[in-house]
Amino acid sequence: MSLSLTDITLTYPDGDGRLTALDRVTLDVPRGGLTAVIGPSGSGKSSLLAVAATLITPDSGTVTVDGTDTTGMSRGELAGLRRHRIGIVFQQPNLLASLTAAEQLQVMAHLDGRRARAARGRALELLDAVGLADLAGRRPHQLSGGQRQRINIARALMNDPGVLLVDEPTSALDHERGAAVIDLITRLTRERGTATVLVTHDHAHLAAADRVTEVFDGRLGLASPTGS
Ligand SMILES: Nc1ncnc2c1ncn2[C@@H]1O[C@H](COP(=O)(O)OP(=O)(O)O)[C@@H](O)[C@H]1O
Ligand SMILES: [Mg+2]
Repeated sequence: MSLSLTDITLTYPDGDGRLTALDRVTLDVPRGGLTAVIGPSGSGKSSLLAVAATLITPDSGTVTVDGTDTTGMSRGELAGLRRHRIGIVFQQPNLLASLTAAEQLQVMAHLDGRRARAARGRALELLDAVGLADLAGRRPHQLSGGQRQRINIARALMNDPGVLLVDEPTSALDHERGAAVIDLITRLTRERGTATVLVTHDHAHLAAADRVTEVFDGRLGLASPTGS
């Protein structure tokens, strides 16, 4: 298992009390497999990804990334773990307007001058892998929504993470472009052997998944692959 969440409970402050966003959630995500998470708005999907990404520390439970138990790690240690082992794709690409496609990826590499050429090579290789080799010099305003989301995905893979966490990547895309993005995530998961969690609201995407998990009111249950 490359990502394990064990007995995770997460609450947020809510008026005088606490709101339980995740209620004793356990999820094991194997390498090279796509685990889809579905559920209504407000059910806890993004909270689940934020805990898996170590961006939020749960009230209780453990998050294990590539065999490393993250419990008790310092902020600095967690930042290092995220940088090297976890790729995160948020709903909105959040690309920097002034940078070209290749540069969006290169900034992920935090490298000194000597290794800058290697970072450039890796950025171009990943842009090729997501079908954008010819557009490496374009800036975000010269790209379509689907192309920007592909750059977002390539950027998350820049440091060769073992874990890939993707939150509703198609919500701003039409059906055809959305399906192409899901195909891309599926292929990259197989090729690169990532343990991938895909949060989606679109049941049409579930056919690509190896496993489908449904979240309801912060609790997990296994759903059938058709989501019915
Ligand atoms: N930072 C926060 N503070 C307080 N409540 C939050 C916060 N983030 C999410 N919530 C609440 O937690 C629940 C789960 O939210 P979320 O994980 O965003 O669900 P989903 O991604 O499935 O829409 C919701 O009731 C939401 O309002
Ligand atoms: Mg969400």
